[in-house]
Amino acid sequence: MRLDRFLSNSGVGTRKEVKKLIREGRVTVNGVVVTSPSFKVGELDVVEVEGRKITKPEKVYILFYKPAGYVTSTEDPHSETIMKFLPPLKGLFPVGRLDKDAEGLLLVTTDGEFAHRVISPKRGVEKEYLVEVEGEITEEKLERLRKGVLLKDGFLAKAKTVSWENKKSLRIVVTEGKYHQVKRMMAAVGLRTIKLKRIRIGGLVLPQDMSPGEFRFLSEEEVKRVLEGNLEKEDPPRP
Ligand code: URA
Repeated sequence: MRLDRFLSNSGVGTRKEVKKLIREGRVTVNGVVVTSPSFKVGELDVVEVEGRKITKPEKVYILFYKPAGYVTSTEDPHSETIMKFLPPLKGLFPVGRLDKDAEGLLLVTTDGEFAHRVISPKRGVEKEYLVEVEGEITEEKLERLRKGVLLKDGFLAKAKTVSWENKKSLRIVVTEGKYHQVKRMMAAVGLRTIKLKRIRIGGLVLPQDMSPGEFRFLSEEEVKRVLEGNLEKEDPPRP
C-alpha cells in the first residue's frame, strides 16, 4: 500500500495532510526517512511519524439490533439511517441490508472482504427470519417455498428451510439476499408480510437480551461463527 494511503487509513490525517508530513521528512519507514508519498509499505514495515509508531487500524465488527423505521445505509437524503445508533468510526458500513420496516440482526463492519463473504450466495451463509404474515399459512405453501418460487425478475428463490412458527408467523432460512427477497417470496405464495425480523446470520444469533437500537462489538470467535456456523436443522413439525 502507498505510504500516504497507509497513514490516512490509520487516522493520521487527510491524504493532503499526510502527503505534507511525508514531504517534510517527518515520516520514517524502518528507521529511514521517506519523502515520497507513493513509497510502497508492506505488512512488516515499521512506519513512524516523528518517532510515533503508526499501526494499521483494527478492523471493526459490530452486531446491531436494527429497529424498524431506519434506512440501512450510511447516508440518506430523506430518512434517518442506522448510523445514528452506531459509534462514529471511519469506514463503517452495513453488511447487506434490512428494509426500512424490518428489524433484527444487522452486521456493520469496516471489513469489505468479510462483508462480501457474508453476502455472497456462493458462500451460502444462512439468514434466518421470523415473518408475520396476513393470509393463511398452509403446508402446500411451505412446500412451494422449499421447492422454489419464481420471482418477477426471473430469480428462483428457494427457502433452505421453512416452518410454522405459529398460526400467523413462519420461520424461514435463505442463503441469498435479493432485494425484498423474503417479502417477495411470501407474496409469491399469496402471503403479505406484516412484520419481518432477522434472527440469525450464519452461526450468530440475535441475542435475547438486546433491544432494538443496541449494538455491541463482536469477538474474533463470533466473527468466525458468522461465516462457519450455519446451523443444520430439520424443519420442525407444524404446531
Ligand atoms: N427480505 C426482505 O424482504 N426484506 C429484508 O429486509 C430482508 C430480506
